[in-house]
Amino acid sequence: MSIHIGAAAGQVAPVVLMPGDPLRAKWIAETFLDDVECYTEVRGMLGFTGTWQGRRVSVQGSGMGQPSLAIYANELFEEYGVTTIIRVGSCGALTEKVAIRDVVIASGACTDSSMNTHRFGGYDYAPVADFGLLRAAVEAAESMEDVTSHVGLIFSSDSFYSPRPELMEAQVKHGVLAVEMEASALYTLAAQHERRALAICTVSDHIVTGEETTSQEREQTFGAMVEMALRAALA
Ligand code: HPA
Repeated sequence: MSIHIGAAAGQVAPVVLMPGDPLRAKWIAETFLDDVECYTEVRGMLGFTGTWQGRRVSVQGSGMGQPSLAIYANELFEEYGVTTIIRVGSCGALTEKVAIRDVVIASGACTDSSMNTHRFGGYDYAPVADFGLLRAAVEAAESMEDVTSHVGLIFSSDSFYSPRPELMEAQVKHGVLAVEMEASALYTLAAQHERRALAICTVSDHIVTGEETTSQEREQTFGAMVEMALRAALA
């Protein structure tokens, strides 16, 4: 096992879906996968492996925020040979171009985090999605009639309760669609390890209009997004 993941070698599949919430990981595994086995419960950050259409897939919770996701992504890439991580999460819409319950497929991730400032000694770095995964997710989204999807930039914030939310306005004027808390670290770590990553997020709340989804709506749109992620990962 690695420090934070209690799996033996070979128990984690090369393809991993990664929700923030460990109970979402359990829900995804139980709802979408066959022959499911739970391979880790360390710190309650559950991970499961099963099969989808006969192919092995794992689902691993990441926790909230880039430092937490980075722990799990690092260990999955370095110690379990994972090739592909698709984050399946929620986001807050920052523009009226995006509606509540829509899906945002993140082509790139901006951030206020200092993780990449330290990593690159102050130079800017543009964390981007794997193009093959991005293309496959867009193709899957286009064939799903009940989902409205957008492809574009997402903002990975270190603060859910931002002390200065007005700072995101300039980002929105430069094409950012929504805010979440993990994609930038995931894209950077995938690039470092020469692996594939993508983040797909459903809009759970709208920062401009103040709308929020009910838990039932979240489950429905979350399901469509998981289907999209599985189809993209195993295309
Ligand atoms: N901020 C940050 N992360 C989020 C949000 C938000 O408003 N909604 C869902 N994830």
